[in-house]
Amino acid sequence: MRVLVVGSGAREHALCVALSSDPAVTAVAWAPGNAGTARIAEAAPLDVADPVAVAALATGWGADLVVVGPEVPLVAGAADAVRDAGIACFGPSAQAAQIEGSKSFAKHVMAAAGVPTARAWPVGGPAELETALDEAGAPYVVKDDGLAAGKGVVVTADRDAAVAHGRRVLDAGGAVLVEEFLDGPEVSLFAVTDGTTVLPLLPAQDAKRRDDGDAGPNTGGMGAYAPLPWAPPGLVDDVLATVLQPTVDEMRRRGEPFCGLLYAGLALTSRGVRVVEFNARFGDPETQVVLPLLETPLGGLLHAAATGALAGHPPLRWRSGAAVTVVVAAPGYPEAPRTGDPVTGADGEGVLHAGTAADAGGTVRSAGGRVLAVTATGPDLAAARQTAYERVAAVRLAGAHWRTDIALAAVEGRISLP
Ligand code: AMP
Ligand code: GLY
Repeated sequence: MRVLVVGSGAREHALCVALSSDPAVTAVAWAPGNAGTARIAEAAPLDVADPVAVAALATGWGADLVVVGPEVPLVAGAADAVRDAGIACFGPSAQAAQIEGSKSFAKHVMAAAGVPTARAWPVGGPAELETALDEAGAPYVVKDDGLAAGKGVVVTADRDAAVAHGRRVLDAGGAVLVEEFLDGPEVSLFAVTDGTTVLPLLPAQDAKRRDDGDAGPNTGGMGAYAPLPWAPPGLVDDVLATVLQPTVDEMRRRGEPFCGLLYAGLALTSRGVRVVEFNARFGDPETQVVLPLLETPLGGLLHAAATGALAGHPPLRWRSGAAVTVVVAAPGYPEAPRTGDPVTGADGEGVLHAGTAADAGGTVRSAGGRVLAVTATGPDLAAARQTAYERVAAVRLAGAHWRTDIALAAVEGRISLP
């Protein structure tokens, strides 16, 4: 089986690593990729936002399966174009990807499916914004309704900051949602689905804020770990029954079946599990810790999902142990990352490339906000964490920053359920 991976981040690097170790996968191409591509896959240029270009590359390269990493090509219709070209695609249609592309669409689906989520107030203008904030109360949660690469949400006790964020989105022509604040630790649970059968993966936790101690602005994700030693027993079965299966069933009922990776961002609140958000694709950086623990060959699993054959797929097998990934970010991330700096020490084991590009002379340079995701596995979280940070220490990027506390609270037993 020849597999084309679309995207250019460390998530796609992790997908390529896992696909390459599947004996049924004979070739992997990764487009447009980054400076890490040549280590693991065939490279090709690609405008991921152009569905016609994605389908043409898949056809020209002779792909048997296309795996779409990011949300932008999915929302643009890449999976539709690939399937129209007669090639199996792991990824939802543009319509089904609206579960990530529009937060208000996701809220409608959840309401119809009876899936527990935060109460939300859609906001059409500045006056409604103030009313919604007063009704919701502090801490305030203000969201850009559309795709914002994890940066559209502000959670703050400062009412002026909440108003300012809402106004910024409205002034830019966007729609705003104000939400009820959800307390409790967050969990990312991925499920592979063919639109009917749903196979949950291992729960992971992402560090969303830029700085240690969950301080600073929201980012696309600064690190992750799996499994979660503090998760309540039965969490996965519970979320499958109350969130994932009802959502997939509701999408099918609407005539918009969701085939691909359904990512449930959950809060384990004092009143039970609540959905914070859905994503229509693998999470980044959670994928970098979930896939190294998956023993089941990934290519066969994703192909079964892409071809409606998941009901006949054997149960997933997991390796024992744990995985930790630490994102090395460019100075200025997330607001205004500086790019173009040389990156060295980035070819070691577990170093997954994200925002990197090789210049004409072959020097690897930073090319995005999240530059590398440095990953390790180990017999337990403490060991995986130690190895991951040893690997981070071998990387050189001027002005780089990374969190030093990924998985630390879990290792020290400091995460408690409300
Ligand atoms: P989202 O883009 O919806 O995933 O939000 C990004 C992050 O903002 C989440 O992972 C949470 O950390 C935080 N967040 C979003 N919605 C809420 C909420 N209703 N209550 C508390 N925190 C939230
Ligand atoms: N790690 C958060 C996301 O992938 O959206």
